[in-house]
Amino acid sequence: MNILVTGGAGYIGSHTCVELLNSNHSVVIVDNLINSKVESIEKIERITGKKIIFYEKDVTNEEAVDKIFNNHKFDGVIHFAGLKAVGESVSKPLDYYYNNLVSTMILSKACIKYNVNKFVFSSSATVYGENKVPFVETMKLLKTTNPYGETKAMSERILTDTSLANVDFSVALLRYFNPVGAHESGLIGEAPNGIPNNLMPYITKVAKGELKKLSIFGDDYDTVDGTGVRDYIHVVDLAIGHVKAIEKLDNGVNIYNLGTGKGVSVLEIVNAFKEENDIDIPYEIVERRPGDIASSYADVEKAKKELNWEAKKGIKEMVKDSWRFEKNYSI
Ligand code: NAD
Ligand code: UD1
Repeated sequence: MNILVTGGAGYIGSHTCVELLNSNHSVVIVDNLINSKVESIEKIERITGKKIIFYEKDVTNEEAVDKIFNNHKFDGVIHFAGLKAVGESVSKPLDYYYNNLVSTMILSKACIKYNVNKFVFSSSATVYGENKVPFVETMKLLKTTNPYGETKAMSERILTDTSLANVDFSVALLRYFNPVGAHESGLIGEAPNGIPNNLMPYITKVAKGELKKLSIFGDDYDTVDGTGVRDYIHVVDLAIGHVKAIEKLDNGVNIYNLGTGKGVSVLEIVNAFKEENDIDIPYEIVERRPGDIASSYADVEKAKKELNWEAKKGIKEMVKDSWRFEKNYSI
């Protein structure tokens, strides 16, 4: 297949491009580089030995998107492009609603116009809100706690309605749990700007000595050791999930959780990182972070059964690969 990957220079998009190319699909990337660097395109090419066509364009620019669809014959679109910082979405809601919703609408419109019938969307476990774990695809979605999460719930609805109205337009809504880790080459990985909000990038900065210590947000949750529990998934497993999803997609709206099905606590992650990498991670316990839930993990049966996909890599590989990338990154 020839696939348009929006946000393909970013963290999950770059790993997915590697797996698409390794599976003999071809890839066109469009990214405005608002949260990534052009070097990641060259790194994907270096890892795979294959060429990519790259457009440095904004996918909220309808004219630019139309031109790209006019220049190529795509079999499908994987739409990663989006803003994703939860805290920033609270202070800049319009930027988030505009970027994340307008991009989804413009791309779906172009798909219908140019008869591109497969659309894979990056959704998030955040749409489950405070449902009971494990989260199952059939659950009624509960209120999200921030504008970022709301853009994911709304995009899911926009794509669902668009597919209902256009029978040939099939959609996969992929609800990611907590992506961590990096490609084993150490060339691509997660490189957030400024002080990281998420756990793993924060830990790697502490390991490097760039940040003094980790603040653990609460140890009084109803979990195994009182700290928050999440379903961490290696980004390469997640990327392979996209390849399976787009290869299978041929009908209607298909929702899949992409996680491991296992919940891991903050302290368990910290200890695994220390043990595997032989580096101390100083930490202190602080107040709970507003908006956090105690536990989030996936029911993964549907993806296993329908996509013949399951996550293979465990916590050890996640902490090792995250650290390898962080060490390489600023050298
Ligand atoms: P990322 O920021 O590394 O990648 C997103 C890419 O999209 C970046 O390269 C950015 O430059 C680009 N982009 C943003 N707006 C654009 C626009 N209007 N036009 C063109 N390019 C644009 O983020 P990521 O972690 O790779 O996330 C990819 C997708 O997965 C996002 O939609 C995100 O919301 C979703 N998601 C991420 C996580 C996570 O923990 N990383 C979890 C759930 C869902
Ligand atoms: C965050 C987002 C969520 C998004 C998800 C994608 C928030 C509130 N939620 O979720 O919308 O879909 O990323 O990956 O930002 N922790 C610490 N100290 C830190 C950082 C995190 O103790 O410095 C803890 C958190 O309390 C949580 C766990 O680590 O228990 C994971 O946190 P994080 O990596 O931010 O992910 P989520 O909170 O799951």
